[in-house]
Amino acid sequence: MAHSARMYDYYLGGKDNFPADRQAAEQVRLAMPEVVHGAVQNRAFLVRAIRYLAAEAGVRQFLDIGTGIPTRPNLHEVAQSAAPQSRLVYVDNDPIVLAHARALLVSSPQGATAYLDADFREPQRILTSPEVVEILDLAEPVGLSLGALLPFIPEQADPEGIVRQLMDALPSGSYLTLTYLTTDFSPTEVTRTVDIYRAQDIPVHPRTHDDVLRFFGGFDLVDPGLTPLHRWRPDTGTAVQPEAEEGGQLAYAGVARKP
Ligand SMILES: C[S@@+](CC[C@H](N)C(=O)[O-])C[C@H]1O[C@@H](n2cnc3c(N)ncnc32)[C@H](O)[C@@H]1O
Repeated sequence: MAHSARMYDYYLGGKDNFPADRQAAEQVRLAMPEVVHGAVQNRAFLVRAIRYLAAEAGVRQFLDIGTGIPTRPNLHEVAQSAAPQSRLVYVDNDPIVLAHARALLVSSPQGATAYLDADFREPQRILTSPEVVEILDLAEPVGLSLGALLPFIPEQADPEGIVRQLMDALPSGSYLTLTYLTTDFSPTEVTRTVDIYRAQDIPVHPRTHDDVLRFFGGFDLVDPGLTPLHRWRPDTGTAVQPEAEEGGQLAYAGVARKP
């Protein structure tokens, strides 16, 4: 069977994937050619968001859940290039990601990183794990990052409630960063893609703009709010697609501060 982490690695041009992953990923690419660009844009957003948090918002600690197979730059490399003392804990529940985790542990000497093999659906286990307790000071602001993770969490597991539990454990001045797959722009293609994932036993739950917004209830969205991936603070000099050509957009991105 294919795995979501290895299919995503394949979209990004990585080598840590097997024939079953490539086959399912190719089916997705046929159904939705924008997927490769979407994966690249998802990573590019995460890089801009972490850079913003480290360089502009002064955040020095990060908790990244649903990390994925290492890919350059990894998020601690982004944070530590802005602030070398940044500390980051990575969390994923996929044994494939665990097998590659060594690449995530090469920290700057002034900072620190750790890897925790755990499930997002066990927030208390994550928050009380030795990795989090040793690396992060939960009395100081933390940037919680959930890149392309939440669509894999079934509604019955209450993803919004889990995000709230995690944010409740973090102090004022902490940030929530997330990306989320949507049917708003390419409904037919995204629905076909969801079917391909489901056939591999990987349930995926896309959301509308308003439904993604619900994750940010009670927090202050950083400008420009919840936008398609490429519209969130594009790097200077990047040509941003006109709104009329927004058809290929696959996901929303947002960053919000806990007041
Ligand atoms: C599409 S990848 C995203 C990787 C990275 N965050 C990014 O956005 O570039 C989704 C990751 O979420 C992980 N994942 C899925 N369900 C999870 C769960 N319940 N707990 C922890 N990780 C999970 C998968 O193993 C995979 O590595």
